[in-house]
Order: sequence, then structure tokens, then C-alpha cells
Amino acid sequence: MTRKSNGKRALVTGGAGLIGSHLTDLLLEEGYSVRTLDNLEPQTHRKGKPPWIPAEAEFVNADIRNRNAVASALRGIDIVFHQAAYGGYMPEIAKYVHVNSFGTAQMLEIIRDENLPIRKMVVASSQAVYREGAGGCPEHGLVFPEPRPIEQLRSGDYTVRCPVCNATTMPTATPEEAPMGGETVYALTKVDQERLALMWGRQTGTPVVALRYSCTYGPRQSVFNPYTGVIAIFATRLLNGQPPVLYEDGEQTRDFCYVGDVARANLLAAQSDALDGLPVNVGSGRATTIRDVAEMVAEALDVGIEPVVRGEVRPGEMRHLTSDTSRARSAGYEPRVSLDEGIGRYLEWIGTQGDVRDYFAEAEQTLREKRIVHQLATESSRTGYGR
Ligand SMILES: NC(=O)c1ccc[n+]([C@@H]2O[C@H](COP(=O)([O-])OP(=O)(O)OC[C@H]3O[C@@H](n4cnc5c(N)ncnc54)[C@H](O)[C@@H]3O)[C@@H](O)[C@H]2O)c1
Ligand SMILES: [Zn+2]
Repeated sequence: MTRKSNGKRALVTGGAGLIGSHLTDLLLEEGYSVRTLDNLEPQTHRKGKPPWIPAEAEFVNADIRNRNAVASALRGIDIVFHQAAYGGYMPEIAKYVHVNSFGTAQMLEIIRDENLPIRKMVVASSQAVYREGAGGCPEHGLVFPEPRPIEQLRSGDYTVRCPVCNATTMPTATPEEAPMGGETVYALTKVDQERLALMWGRQTGTPVVALRYSCTYGPRQSVFNPYTGVIAIFATRLLNGQPPVLYEDGEQTRDFCYVGDVARANLLAAQSDALDGLPVNVGSGRATTIRDVAEMVAEALDVGIEPVVRGEVRPGEMRHLTSDTSRARSAGYEPRVSLDEGIGRYLEWIGTQGDVRDYFAEAEQTLREKRIVHQLATESSRTGYGR
């Protein structure tokens, strides 16, 4: 198909991935000429170059840490969508910092040092940058609770408390003003990426938008990666007759956003100047418990497998996190695909992927050994398998 060019040249880093590939398709539809840079991270792309990389986009197989490759990929580009990152509850520590923090810093340095005429940058941040989702206190209204201490989690107390009076808070949508944290290594490096890019934007006078995505899912989400993407993990478990594993009690809530909606938010950030210089939440604005997600996926697959609670917790994990999307909406963002419909689209796509293995079973052991997942300290949960 030949499309009318709009004359703009975009670089999408991480363009082989979930969000980058949908964004690439959307940009091509909009008439951009697109170059993608991706190293086909083996954890995500176990079978090599995925078939969805479009022939109309120029594909550069390179690591974001490779200075020369990034410098040449940036030449002739007007706008950068920086999506490449190492993500999730991966067992490494140093690699996150190297790929995410160093990779971003070096890219910004190249643009500045070579005086490249980049007119805009959109950087993929995450709602992981918050400390804990916002809460409503009966006495103090909107509050920003502290992360729950490991000892509290290990005692099986999952409540989130008001930082002023210690009352249990009600989950509330989190606005961009909420304090940033970095409670996992991944989160810390997303804070770095966002801060580096926004600061660089102010210093160099380049418009930068940091999109804080909520949990994004949809077709092309890796079926190989057992460390990230709860819908993908639950689906591959269920397809192998295995129950989804819930941390804590499974009543944590998250905001699930369909990948097509996230791609459109990127386009909006590129085309509007209303969000320049800002961090911007991108999500559905709706809270869903992880248990409900497990049940929705099982129901959609028509398998009668209940999720299990094994008395395990992940330190640094937030209890409730739903995006307040007012800022994005004020610039014209509107999510279109419901969770039900999006899960349906994902499962339909998985059905075309041949044999889908359960990689989570192997990963679980690693997560425990590396103390990314902890066992509850109470006797009953140590012996029992919960429900
Ligand atoms: N999916 C989510 O729920 C979510 C939520 C918040 C933020 N994000 C952010 O959105 C961005 C895209 O995530 P995604 O969900 O599409 O993940 P993904 O893993 O599907 O895509 C990331 C892509 O980056 C590539 N990549 C990884 N390391 C690289 C390196 N060293 N050099 C070059 N390319 C590299 C991978 O091969 C992959 O194709 C990431 O920055 C991620 O942190 C994702
Ligand atoms: Zn209070």
C-alpha cells in the first residue's frame, strides 16, 4: 500500500516490541516515514525478528547502548519515540541501569553533541515511577501514601495507610503530581529515563513529553517473557492448563490500557504542543483487580481454572494504581478499547502463535532465589497454599 507522506521522519526505538510496533503501524498510516531501532532482546523475542515488522519501515537491528548505531539511526530524523527498555520483574539489576538509564542518557548526549535537528521527543515512562497509588483518607482527603514496608507485606497486611493519620485509605486515581519513587530497579530506571529526557528538553529547548503508561497489553505482547505483562503470563499459563499465580491476595488493582490506545497517545503527544515538557499519564482510568483479570482471561478461554494465592509478595509492588488521565484527556486523548474487547483481541492473536509454552514455571524459581518474590512470614501461609 502506498500512503501519502506527511514529510516527517520518525525514529521508534524498541520498534519490534508491543507498543513500538503498534506505534510504527500508526505512524506509517499517518504518513510518517519510520525507522525503528531494536536489538530483538532474546527474553522478549525468542524466535528472532517478529513477522509484524512492516516492510515500509526501515529496521535497524542494534542495541540502544551502541553509540555509533544510535548516532546513525538518529540522522535525518525529526521526531524520536523512545520506547526501547528492559522491563518488568527481570532478575538482573545492572542491565536495567545500562539499557534504560545509560541508553537514554547516551542518546540524548548524541543528539546534543552532534546538534541533530530533532524537533520533538516522546519518551516511554511508566506509572511504575510512582511510590504507591494515591489514596483517599476519611480525614485528610487525597493523600500520597508511602510504599508498604516489606515487614508489613510479609505479615500478610496489604493495606495502604494515610501518611498523616495511618487510617486505611481508599484507592483513588493517581495524578501526575503524585511523588515519584523508584521502588523496583525497573521503576528506578523509568524515573531516570523520564527525568533525563524532560531535563534535556528544558536545557536544549526541545519539546519532550514523558508518557507514563499504565499496564499495556494487546496483540504482539511477548508470549515468551515470563517476567512482564500479567495478561500474557496468565494467558500462557491457562493455555497450558496451569493456574495463574496471584501475589498478595490478588485484590491489587491496576489500570489496563489497550496497546492501540497507547499508540494513539504517542501520536497525540507528537502532534499537539499541549503536553510539551510534561509527564502525562496514559491509561484507561479504570481499576481492575488482578484476580478479576485472571478470571476474565480464563472465561474468555473457556477454561475452568481458578487462580491460586500462594502467600507470596513482591516488595516494591504497589497495592492500587489507576491513572488519573485528566491531563491527557484535556489534550484530546480518549481510550477506545475496553478490557473485555482487548483481552478478546489478545487471545485471538495468541491463537495464531502456534504452541505457546508456560515459561512462568521456570521463572518462578528464579524470582524466589533472587528475592524478587518473598514468602509470607506467617505460619498458616507457609504451610498452606491459600485458596
Ligand atoms: N507494557 C507495559 O505495560 C508498559 C507499561 C509502562 C511502560 N512501558 C514502557 O513502554 C516501552 C515499550 O514497552 P513494551 O510493552 O512495548 O515492551 P516490549 O518488551 O514489547 O518492547 C520493548 C522493545 O525494546 C527492545 N529492546 C530492549 N532492550 C533493548 C536494547 N538494549 N536496545 C534496543 N532495543 C531494546 C526489545 O527488543 C523490545 O522489542 C518500554 O519503555 C516500557 O518500559 C510498558
Ligand atoms: Zn489521614
